[in-house]
Amino acid sequence: MSHFGSYDERVKNFDWKISENELGYKEGDPINIGWYCTDRICEMGKADKPALIWEGPTGNEKRYTYNDLRLTSNTIGSFLRSLGIKNEDRVCLFMDKIPELYLGFLGILKIGAIAQPLFSAFGDESLFIRLENAQTKAIITQKKHAPKIRKIIDKMPWLEHIIIVDQDPAKPLQEREVSFNLDEAPKVETFDIFPTYAESPSVLHYTSGTTGQPKGVKHVHASLISQYLTAKWVLDLHDDDIYWCTADPGWVTGTSYGIIGAFSNGVTQCILDAGFSADNWYRFIEKHKVSVWYSAPTAIRSLMKAGDDVVKRYNLSSLRHLASVGEPLNSEAVIWSEKVFGKPFLDTYWQTETGCMVITNFPDMKIKPGSMGKGFPGIIATVVDPETYEPFEESGKMGLIAIKPGWPSMMRTYWNNEETYQKKFVNGWYIPGDRSSIDNEGYFWFVGRDDDVINTGGHLVSPFEVESALLEHEAVAESAVVAKPDFVNMEVVKAFVTLKPGFTASKELDLQIMNFVRKKLSPLAMPQEIEFVETLPKTRSGKIMRRILHAKEWGEEIGDTSTLEED
Ligand code: PRX
Repeated sequence: MSHFGSYDERVKNFDWKISENELGYKEGDPINIGWYCTDRICEMGKADKPALIWEGPTGNEKRYTYNDLRLTSNTIGSFLRSLGIKNEDRVCLFMDKIPELYLGFLGILKIGAIAQPLFSAFGDESLFIRLENAQTKAIITQKKHAPKIRKIIDKMPWLEHIIIVDQDPAKPLQEREVSFNLDEAPKVETFDIFPTYAESPSVLHYTSGTTGQPKGVKHVHASLISQYLTAKWVLDLHDDDIYWCTADPGWVTGTSYGIIGAFSNGVTQCILDAGFSADNWYRFIEKHKVSVWYSAPTAIRSLMKAGDDVVKRYNLSSLRHLASVGEPLNSEAVIWSEKVFGKPFLDTYWQTETGCMVITNFPDMKIKPGSMGKGFPGIIATVVDPETYEPFEESGKMGLIAIKPGWPSMMRTYWNNEETYQKKFVNGWYIPGDRSSIDNEGYFWFVGRDDDVINTGGHLVSPFEVESALLEHEAVAESAVVAKPDFVNMEVVKAFVTLKPGFTASKELDLQIMNFVRKKLSPLAMPQEIEFVETLPKTRSGKIMRRILHAKEWGEEIGDTSTLEED
C-alpha cells in the first residue's frame, strides 16, 4: 500500500498542516532540521536503527545508527562552536560523499549556521566565486581538496577556518587550517541545539544562470515541511525501506532527498562513494537490498547502454519503487526500466530554487512515459503564455511553467541578489524558466529550458562562466559556449573559439584549453568539444549570438537573423 493513494483525494484535502502534524510542529514553534533528522527519530524509539550505511571506493563500509547520527552531528556542531562559528555564519562543505559530509551538514544546522555545500570536483575559480559571494567563514574539507583552497586563500580574508577531516598528523597544517577527526573526537552527548525558527536560514545552494555569476539560493528551516512530505509521498518511504539517493549533496537533490527527506522520515539510507559502473551499481543494490532508488536520467541512460545482460547477473528483487530527477526522462528509459527492473522510473521535476518536488508522478497514478506528471498537492502549477503570463485556456499549448508561490521549501532569496530573485516572479507566478505543455488529463510534458543554460547529465552549467574561463586562456580571443546533443548526458558543453594572433589551432591546444577549464571550473563545465573558428556570429551591437550556434548543433531552423552583423 503506498502512502499516497488517490491523486484527486490528496489534492482535494490537502493542507501543509498534514506534514506539520506528522512532524509534531506548530506554527511559531522552533524548528531545526538537524534536530528533526536525528534527535527526534531517536525520541521516536529508533535510536538503534541503521540510519546511514556508507560504502567507499574500495568497498570499505561505515555504518551509523540514528543515535550515532545524533552524537556525531552534536560533536561536529560543538567543534564548530569552539571555533567561534555561530548562527547564520556560512559554513561550506567541500568533500566527496564521505560520512562527514552528511553528518557535517546536520551539525552545521544544529548550531543555526548555514550549510553551503559545494561539489568537490569544483576547481579553484568555481570555488572562489561562491565563497566570495557567501563570505563564507569556515570550510570543511578533505586533505586532497585543500590545495585548491590554498591557491586562493590570499584573496579570502573573510575565510577564518579550513577544517580538514582526514589530516595526516605527521604533516604540518598551513595557514588557517585546523584538523578535526570525527572518529577520534569525544562524542558530545548533550548539546544545546540553536533554536532556529521557520524563517531561519538553513542551506545555501549555488545554481548557474545564463548571465552573471552563480546565484546562491537561500533556503530556510521551514523547508523541512515540504521535503518531509514529498519524500514520504512521492518516494513512498516506509519504515522498512532501504533507500538509495544517488545524488551528490553538492547539489540540491543530495541534500533535500539525500539528507533531509530521508532522515526526517527515519529510513535507512545507503550511500555509494565510488565512480559509476553498471556492475558496481547493481552489486550495491543487491548487497544492501535497496528498495527505493532515486536517481537521474543520465545514470539510467548509462545503465541502458551497459545492456540488459548485466542486469540479469544480479538479484535486484528488493527494488520496489524508482524515481528520477534533474533532466528530461525520455520515454524509452521509462519503458526500459519497466522491462528490466519490472518497475518504471517515476519522473519528478523541481529545481534548486523550489527546494522540493513540484511537478511529479506519484505511486498509484497512471504513468505516461515521457511526462513529468502533475503538480504536488498544495502546489498550484500551470503553463502560461510567454507574452501575457496568463495560463492557457486550452490544453496542449507550449508555454512557460508557472507556480503559485508559497510552499514551505520555496527559496527565500538569492544571496546578495534580491533584484534577480524578484525577476523570477511575474503576474503573481514564480517562473522557473522551463517550457512545457499540459495535456487534457493535466500531465506536464517538458519541452526545454527557456534560457541558454546547459543541462549536462542533470548539472546546470552557465555558458557565461565557461566563456569567462576560456577568455582567461592566453590563446583565446573570443568564445561562445552552447549545448551539443549527447546520448547519455543529453547535453554536453561545446565551445566555439577564435584565437589570438600568433596561435594556431591544433590537437594539443585543444586539449590544453579543455584542461584549463576543467581545473578552473570543473569536469562538468569542461567543453567536450572545441571548434576553432575564424569569426563568431554577432548582432549589430557586437553581442555573440549563441542561438545560431546552438541551432546548428541541434540541426534546427536558425530563425530570424536580421540583426546579424554577418550571415
Ligand atoms: O531545467 C529543469 C531541469 O533542471 C533544472 C533545475 O536544475 P537544478 O536547480 O540544478 O535542480 C536539479 C534537481 C532538482 C530545471 O529548471 N529539470 C529538473 N528536473 C527535470 C528537469 N528537466 C526535465 N525533466 C525533469 N524531471
